[in-house]
Amino acid sequence: MTDVTGVPDVPADVLHTLFHSEQGGHEQVVLCQDRATGLKAVIALHSTALGPALGGTRFYPYASEAEAVADALNLSRGMSYKNALAGLDHGGGKAVIIGDPEKIKTEELLLAYGRFVASLGGRYVTACDVGTYVADMDVVARTNQWTTGRSPENGGAGDSSVLTAFGVFQGMRASAQTLWGDPTLRGRKVGVAGVGKVGHYLVEHLLQDGAEVVVTDVREESVRRITDRFPQVAVVADTDALIRVEGLDVYAPCALGGALNDETVPALTAKIVCGAANNQLAHPGIEKDLSDRGILYAPDYVVNAGGVIQVADELHGFDFDRCKAKATKIFDTTLAIFARAKADGIPPAAAADRLAEQRMAEARRG
Ligand SMILES: NC(=O)c1ccc[n+]([C@@H]2O[C@H](COP(=O)([O-])OP(=O)(O)OC[C@H]3O[C@@H](n4cnc5c(N)ncnc54)[C@H](O)[C@@H]3O)[C@@H](O)[C@H]2O)c1
Repeated sequence: MTDVTGVPDVPADVLHTLFHSEQGGHEQVVLCQDRATGLKAVIALHSTALGPALGGTRFYPYASEAEAVADALNLSRGMSYKNALAGLDHGGGKAVIIGDPEKIKTEELLLAYGRFVASLGGRYVTACDVGTYVADMDVVARTNQWTTGRSPENGGAGDSSVLTAFGVFQGMRASAQTLWGDPTLRGRKVGVAGVGKVGHYLVEHLLQDGAEVVVTDVREESVRRITDRFPQVAVVADTDALIRVEGLDVYAPCALGGALNDETVPALTAKIVCGAANNQLAHPGIEKDLSDRGILYAPDYVVNAGGVIQVADELHGFDFDRCKAKATKIFDTTLAIFARAKADGIPPAAAADRLAEQRMAEARRG
């Protein structure tokens, strides 16, 4: 029999983060459960200072519920910063659904989740993330008007990697301007690690701009898709080889997080790092190691904001040209971050955080 007098385990470190730490301060955290469908989800709203909290829905088999809450807190906070610097009138939010999407994702579960999004009455706007896709958002959208990342047939914008790659390219041009005084990659050697949805489009921009491109990917199919279309692109065995390529000017991590760590940073031959991957800095302090080595790091969440710019636009009736114009501004934002970093004597990642915090604080003061 269940011990009804017992106090359940409270994830003390998660609550401490929420109420007491610098990484906390979230406005609202909603625990959602629907036993009929097996839904267990966490919706975290870090900030609505700039507008409704916007961020995707991650569907992931977390090791524990506490880990899921911690991830939702962390990811939603990151979205506040990303949205602020993307110039969007949105705060940061994120939802996580606990469980293996391969095993438990059903239409009924997604509809139950959508009803929780609806219950927030527009304070939270959702989209795709790891483990959720455009087709899933089409289902979630049946229950509420605050779901983006839908298919074009359902009023959505579809694949966000086109504008994500375009934004990364703008960030890279700004990095080239800052380091070499010219906003072009012409004649530069650029290494792209991961040529999936975003990396593929990025390679295309780089070649059009006159760069020499070297790529790597763990999936043979991804590499073949590139070399079939662009036979002039060089291929190396893996990321370890890519970061050591002689004469590499720019390194673009476009695969997984943690690309910049204690092993890779000392070995990098590139002078600029600018890529699409989320959470490239493996731990706090790596941004300083990059600066100490004279490597210019374009903060990931700034340059990869094209996707969130796109989904935010869906709420106003998607217009590709309007979105592209907004994603073009990533060039100016990246320049402003490098300028602030230089003025304050801090790494660009810290300067980006300061600028985002400034925008949120100004919005709070009204
Ligand atoms: N798609 C978007 O709109 C978007 C927006 C913002 C950020 N991002 C981030 O950009 C990155 C790429 O996203 P995507 O949509 O192109 O994903 P994707 O899955 O289409 O592509 C990732 C590619 O990286 C490859 N890869 C995985 N591990 C690797 C490794 N160790 N070395 C080399 N290659 C490896 C994969 O085989 C795949 O081809 C992710 O970190 C994602 O979170 C994407």
